[in-house]
Amino acid sequence: MRVVIIGGSGHVGTYLVPRLVEAGHEVMNITRGQREPYQPHAAWKQVRQVVINRDEADASHSFGPQIRSMKPDIVIDMICFTLDSARQLVEALRGQVQHFLHCGTIWIYGHSVQVPTTEEQPRHPFGEYGIQKAAIEAYLLDEARRNGFPATALHPGHIVGPGWEPLNPAGHFNPQVFKRLACGEEVALPNLGLETVHHVHADDVAQAFMQAIVSWGSSVGESFHVVSPAALTLRGYAESVAAWFGQAAQLTYLPWEAWRTTVSEDEARATWDHIAHSPNCSIAKAQRLLNYQPRYSSLEGVREAVNWMMEHGIIRL
Ligand SMILES: NC(=O)c1ccc[n+]([C@@H]2O[C@H](COP(=O)([O-])OP(=O)(O)OC[C@H]3O[C@@H](n4cnc5c(N)ncnc54)[C@H](OP(=O)(O)O)[C@@H]3O)[C@@H](O)[C@H]2O)c1
Repeated sequence: MRVVIIGGSGHVGTYLVPRLVEAGHEVMNITRGQREPYQPHAAWKQVRQVVINRDEADASHSFGPQIRSMKPDIVIDMICFTLDSARQLVEALRGQVQHFLHCGTIWIYGHSVQVPTTEEQPRHPFGEYGIQKAAIEAYLLDEARRNGFPATALHPGHIVGPGWEPLNPAGHFNPQVFKRLACGEEVALPNLGLETVHHVHADDVAQAFMQAIVSWGSSVGESFHVVSPAALTLRGYAESVAAWFGQAAQLTYLPWEAWRTTVSEDEARATWDHIAHSPNCSIAKAQRLLNYQPRYSSLEGVREAVNWMMEHGIIRL
């Protein structure tokens, strides 16, 4: 089939585009042409690159018609962040595509009620990103169920893989936290270190998109979490990372208001965003309906990213 992927040269697309090509699809990738995939792959030679700036095209209401003119069978939308942007695309593609796959986020839940969170749990999103993503999901599922628009929403957790810095055991992105744990140095965690983070390897997200395509009958009109089999507590995450290097983690704990003063504003903001969500999502629905079988646990996914950071001198022991 002809697959148009919007934003296919990032974390997920690096793995998804080669999978699509290998499955025999004709692939067109929409980007601004600024980024290269994280890993080279011969499959990219067969991909048609189309340069469009979605923000600019959305502003002039030309994005949907441009995608429609490519006559796709399948559209994979990796970079939709507002309800208005989703609406424009759906209006243009109504009756024109066999399958429309949207990349959402587990931030749609805000805080959890029962964990692991299932797709049937209530949404309490906070922050503009989560609020917009929840609105997009609700809109797409309504369009699918009421009007027969063939939409599926896939909600990744925190995406990791070799090539970029992973969310660390303190809930932010400073890679020095990994170094300190590896060297047996003290690391302070907020509260009791029992708030959670939920990673997923980018290749497992790609697997879920492929499985959703081949499972059309059970994926249309549905949303699915795409995460590793289990979330991590910050404390357990820190202890596991230290153990990789033969260390017992030297952890201290501080109440949030005290802890936040020990890190930069950016780090505190990132950690707050993660611990206020404390995601812990179930993959049972994706396993049952899509036969999603993640290859990586959270720790295995992070380990690949940490190895990459060590190979590239981002972490020096
Ligand atoms: N990262 C995470 O941990 C995480 C977690 C949960 C959910 N998600 C969801 O994952 C999706 C993002 O996927 P990703 O992480 O694979 O993407 P990504 O790594 O951020 O890559 C974004 C892709 O979109 C292109 N792009 C960016 N802005 C564009 C624009 N204005 N017009 C056209 N192309 C544009 C980029 O190429 P150019 O720069 O060359 O244009 C690139 O191919 C989002 O929907 C996000 O909500 C991410």
